[in-house]
Amino acid sequence: MTSRPLIIAPSVLAADLGRIDEEAERIKKSGAEWVHIDVMDGHFVPNISFGTNMVRTLRKVMGDVTLDVHLMIEQPDRYARDFVEAGADCLSVHLEARHTVSRTLDLIREMGCRAGLAINPPTLFKHAVPLLPKIQQLLLMTVNPGFGGQAFLSEVLPKIREAREVILRQNYDVDITVDGGIGEDTVRPCVSAGANILVAGTALFRQPDLTQAVANLRKSAQSATVSG
Ligand code: DX5
Ligand code: ZN
Repeated sequence: MTSRPLIIAPSVLAADLGRIDEEAERIKKSGAEWVHIDVMDGHFVPNISFGTNMVRTLRKVMGDVTLDVHLMIEQPDRYARDFVEAGADCLSVHLEARHTVSRTLDLIREMGCRAGLAINPPTLFKHAVPLLPKIQQLLLMTVNPGFGGQAFLSEVLPKIREAREVILRQNYDVDITVDGGIGEDTVRPCVSAGANILVAGTALFRQPDLTQAVANLRKSAQSATVSG
């Protein structure tokens, strides 16, 4: 368990995009702290979702809710500025994408945005270590990126623990995000291992009462016990 505040970030990928205004209202009233926006380009991942328009729309309707934008795209350095100008508060880019990662992270921070580094399940944590001084959040994918509704990969848990240990030991000001297959059952081991930003799509939006779903997820996260 971590001493950092728990943050719940519903992923709009799982919302009803045909009724985005109503869905935004539902998220706003749900008690969730953040909103997670998955941008997919059909190259870095085999799926296409949405771009800056979605961020701009949500910025307009969500008030001051933090917009957490997850770029699953190649060459994120080319598009970072557009997403910040559209209203992103946090921008996470992948270590595995085609760009000079440290330079992209600098660019994001220079624009006054929170910088996040995302890594896929097979990528070892040691590759992220040199970049920890440049980021505010480390996003550990708990599914292979590209689609919502996939099963949580429990083999990522040791990586969460390892990241938590190094971040604590080195005293970095970095949140740990888990993304993919997060629900009431899977959130507990993630929080025990050290995650504090919890992204959830399907598990929240498939429930008719989003406020209740967020409350239940939070209760489950809070019941997590400290692990080794
Ligand atoms: C997956 C995305 C996730 C996705 C999570 O590539 O990065 O943010 O929306 O969806 P669920 O919670 O349905 O696994
Ligand atoms: Zn995501």
